[in-house]
Amino acid sequence: MSKEKDFTIRDIREDATKKLGKVHSEYINEGAMGLITVQANELAYNRYRIIPRILRDVSNVDTSTTIFGTKVTFPFGFSPAAMHMIAHPSGEIGTSSAASKAGIAMGVSHWATKSMEDIIAAGKNAEGYGYKALLVTVDAPIIGRRLSELRNGIGLPEGMSFPNVVEDDGSTPNNFKNTVRDASTQFSTFLPWLVSVTPPTMEIWLKGIYHPEDVLLASSYPIAGIIVSNHGGRQLDTAPAILEALPACAAAARSPHALHLRSKLGLSRLKVGIDGGIRRGSDIFKALALGADMCFAGRIPIWGLAVDGEDGVSRAIEILRQEFEVTMMLAGCISVGEITKESLAVVEGGVPGIISRL
Ligand SMILES: Cc1cc2nc3c(=O)[nH]c(=O)nc-3n(C[C@H](O)[C@H](O)[C@H](O)COP(=O)(O)O)c2cc1C
Repeated sequence: MSKEKDFTIRDIREDATKKLGKVHSEYINEGAMGLITVQANELAYNRYRIIPRILRDVSNVDTSTTIFGTKVTFPFGFSPAAMHMIAHPSGEIGTSSAASKAGIAMGVSHWATKSMEDIIAAGKNAEGYGYKALLVTVDAPIIGRRLSELRNGIGLPEGMSFPNVVEDDGSTPNNFKNTVRDASTQFSTFLPWLVSVTPPTMEIWLKGIYHPEDVLLASSYPIAGIIVSNHGGRQLDTAPAILEALPACAAAARSPHALHLRSKLGLSRLKVGIDGGIRRGSDIFKALALGADMCFAGRIPIWGLAVDGEDGVSRAIEILRQEFEVTMMLAGCISVGEITKESLAVVEGGVPGIISRL
């Protein structure tokens, strides 16, 4: 049982890696080319130090926040990631059930191995449950060169399919063979179309933005948010680590130019989510201090599933929630809104090095 011996996400990942075997663990854990961005995503958090404020009443910290119009227990949710069933037969149903019991949001991949109806039904006991937002992946005009996938091959194991993908003849595929990607998609044609076909009750978020200029472009459309993401290092290797890209993107979303564009649409600023490399509650704290409203993770629920199905996912969420709460208390922050760059310093000149206030 993961409960007794797994005290960190790293423990869960090690356990999962053993259980998944070479082909599937490399598919999940690795990414594009030399894995420089995969590793940088995690390492970037170590460059920041949290400077605690002391003798504040932290007996009652509130870790909750609101995302997709719904209150969640802490600023963390699951990114959409393909094929949860390769980790456990319960697949996305196990993930959904664990997420809803913990009161957090979950993204569902187009390449999920359970139907959208069954996935949402597994979350039906959560307050305000339902599909609230479209997370549209915008960093994949083509799939990145993932060497482990090229070497090992990756496909759906026997008996699994992609029930939310429908072929022209009405069947559901069990491989990626007929996937067609339109690499000609552009902001100026795609965004107006996307907005026109999305029911107004669904928020639109663009997932996979790294550049502040793209944040400004996104601000000029009636969408709710962006997820600063490099696809967990699976697309362009040597793209910046997420924590390196975040400050400029968060500043762009709050810039006078972006706010002017938003006010013309009658909207408040774009919300800023991130994913990539989050492994500890303190990572979530640091991302919020650098301007994120919300953090997501793609691999964590898959590792949890591999270790112990739904219970493993629940354990992973609880580890992160507890770590986040402890970090808030020790940093002297009583609510999520109090987490700002005032709590943060960056290490310069290697480790150990000189720390500079932001
Ligand atoms: C196995 C796997 C499958 C993924 N499938 C998708 C997908 O179908 N669509 C998508 O937008 N992102 C996909 N992603 C990327 C995640 O949404 C997310 O951006 C990434 O995992 C974040 O990094 P992290 O795993 O370090 O948290 C996938 C990631 C993994 C590890």
